[in-house]
Amino acid sequence: MLEISELNVYFIDDFNYLKFFFKNNKYSKIFILVDKNTNKYCLHLIEKYINEFKLIKIKDGEENKNIDSCNIIWNNLIKNNADRKSLLINLGGGIITDIGSFCASTYKRGIDFINIPTTLLAQVDASIGGKCGINFKNIKNSIGLFVNPRCVFIIKDFLQTLSKREYNSGFAEMIKHSLLKSKNDFEDLLIKYSNLTIVDIYNSVKIKYEIVKKDYKENGLRKILNFGHTIGHAIETLSINKKNRLLHGEALIIGIICELYISHKVLDTDINLINYIIYKLIKMFGYFDINSYSIKEILEIIKNDKKNFYENINFSLMKDIGNFAYDINVPEKIIKESINYYKNLN
Ligand code: GLY
Repeated sequence: MLEISELNVYFIDDFNYLKFFFKNNKYSKIFILVDKNTNKYCLHLIEKYINEFKLIKIKDGEENKNIDSCNIIWNNLIKNNADRKSLLINLGGGIITDIGSFCASTYKRGIDFINIPTTLLAQVDASIGGKCGINFKNIKNSIGLFVNPRCVFIIKDFLQTLSKREYNSGFAEMIKHSLLKSKNDFEDLLIKYSNLTIVDIYNSVKIKYEIVKKDYKENGLRKILNFGHTIGHAIETLSINKKNRLLHGEALIIGIICELYISHKVLDTDINLINYIIYKLIKMFGYFDINSYSIKEILEIIKNDKKNFYENINFSLMKDIGNFAYDINVPEKIIKESINYYKNLN
């Protein structure tokens, strides 16, 4: 079995392994947190391995990653007399693991929690790095902390529960990780697209792990993990009110393409390399129509981005595959150009 032992992250192909973990466990009570989807599609795949548990359900969606959902979780824990020796298992995508981790680590000053990410996106991104929290007053992740789960189970069999769009959304984060690492990793991943193994997932998480290990609290290097996210996040936020809402990874691919363009303009990154990567990304993920997204609105969201300080708009950019820079100030004019560049790619 593959693992990142320092963080107790276990990579397994199927659900059977869970029976060894939950047998003779030391917990006084076990709670499982789910949303509508993981209750329907994922819970039955693991529940037989856990003798007795209480279920906590919250609404799905980014709009419910808020204090109301925390109230539901904390109320359930209190109502069922959860004590310091209780365990919360967070079964779901990044929203469930973020909010569940936050509630567990604040309940009675912190109880154990385990994350079982059920989407490819959560397996390769939210699974490690210790970020947890909620949105508050419409500001994404504005309340939260860094805290690591007792352990994480990354189970490949959950990929079967995903739609193609959900799968691609996670694959987009894997592509970003591969660009942070090496040309070989990027090329290799493109070939493996429809045939991902647990080793590929492990390799992707390992790229993030090596970065986070050096800068857990995101004071510097960790910011390179935000590549593609400054514009991607703004587009994702705007898409909430559109007819065709974009998934995180879809917005991320748009963001990566825009930020590759910016990398060329600001860091003089080789244009042939930029064109090559963009060609591969469009071929793999297709083109997302963002013609109805106004550049003014995109810029407004970017200006509120957490990476900005002293009123500058800062990006993480690519000098070469495997070589990134962070805290790069980019003039508004070039950001606008990059969005127009994307719009005209079709
Ligand atoms: N998702 C980026 C990070 O964990 O830092």
